[in-house]
Amino acid sequence: MKIIILAGGSGTRLWPLSRERYPKQFIKLQEGKLSLFQETFNRSLLLSILDDIYVVTNEKYKFLVMGAIEELGYEYNESNIIIEPESKNTLPAIYAGVHEITKRGNVNVVVFPSDHLIQKEKEFVEIIKHSKELTKESIITFGIKPDGPNTGYGYIAPGIEKLNGYQVKEFKEKPNYEIANSYVAKGYFWNAGIFMFNTELFLSEVKTYSPEIHNAFMNSKNIKESFSRIKKNISIDYGIMEKSNKIVVVPVDIGWNDLGSFDAIFDAFSKDEDYNIVTSDNIVIDSKNNYIYSEKGKLVSMVGVSDLIIVDNRDALLVCKKDQSQKVKEVVNKLKLRN
Ligand code: GDD
Ligand code: MG
Repeated sequence: MKIIILAGGSGTRLWPLSRERYPKQFIKLQEGKLSLFQETFNRSLLLSILDDIYVVTNEKYKFLVMGAIEELGYEYNESNIIIEPESKNTLPAIYAGVHEITKRGNVNVVVFPSDHLIQKEKEFVEIIKHSKELTKESIITFGIKPDGPNTGYGYIAPGIEKLNGYQVKEFKEKPNYEIANSYVAKGYFWNAGIFMFNTELFLSEVKTYSPEIHNAFMNSKNIKESFSRIKKNISIDYGIMEKSNKIVVVPVDIGWNDLGSFDAIFDAFSKDEDYNIVTSDNIVIDSKNNYIYSEKGKLVSMVGVSDLIIVDNRDALLVCKKDQSQKVKEVVNKLKLRN
């Protein structure tokens, strides 16, 4: 089994923690723990050997990827890092990985995003191994039971049972709020964004449903040339998952969280006795239910406050009321207008 880790996203929803030059997957969100990319790399090693793990990333993150793997203590073959000259979203990124891998033959591949938390890793790895049989005829995606009508996810309608999963009746990427709401009521799953397939089937589905991507890689000298031929950014969700009728969803309960906002991070991570998340650099007095993230060595203290998110970086400070962190993206939008 080969692994493709997607590590090219620039996730700005966690501003000012996650920045274009230093995105979420490389940040150590919890004191003394690994980054999400490092967690993903270690998880991949539960399924595969070092030489069979490929990382697809943007030119600008190459050194962050290398540094993160080096810190884990592995001697990683640099040629397994596939560098995109520019970001064209996940379908070209995955195709680039598969294109490289299939130079050595047709195999099964698992695609991991690098910015999710998975709390029950061992269970998940077992489910992946169990689902291998399904790759003979299907592209597999993993389904999460929704806890609300989140519009940032793909929604999956399960159809007839197929081994340990369901044939997918409908896949809808990022529906609007009303539609998401009706999908939740109808028992749809969220798409976890993790895929497993046999490369032969994947390539033929791309050829059928996203021929532009397939053609871009035909008779091309290198990835630079292939990417220059791709005119429109496209994700695997819009390009393949919504269109193919060979998709199977395997429902999983794995403590999955895409940590897409500070509120999601607060919910997922462990809190102290006053229900705060703070680091040892911070001093907190008579304060409850707060999240402080400060750069190492930076002292932030709170006195008598509650329900706040405070993120203090070298060049920016965010103070946000808890439960409002979805609106942080509006700050980023305003910033873009200034630059
Ligand atoms: N190499 C590379 N190149 N990686 C990329 C690129 C790119 O151009 N764009 C995104 N990624 C990486 C991100 O870093 C992330 O790990 C993963 O691919 C998914 O991209 P996101 O941009 O975070 O996608 P999303 O969150 O909007 O939606 C996807 O994930 C949801 C679950 O979190 C979809 O698959 C949804 O259907 C799904 O529900
Ligand atoms: Mg995401």
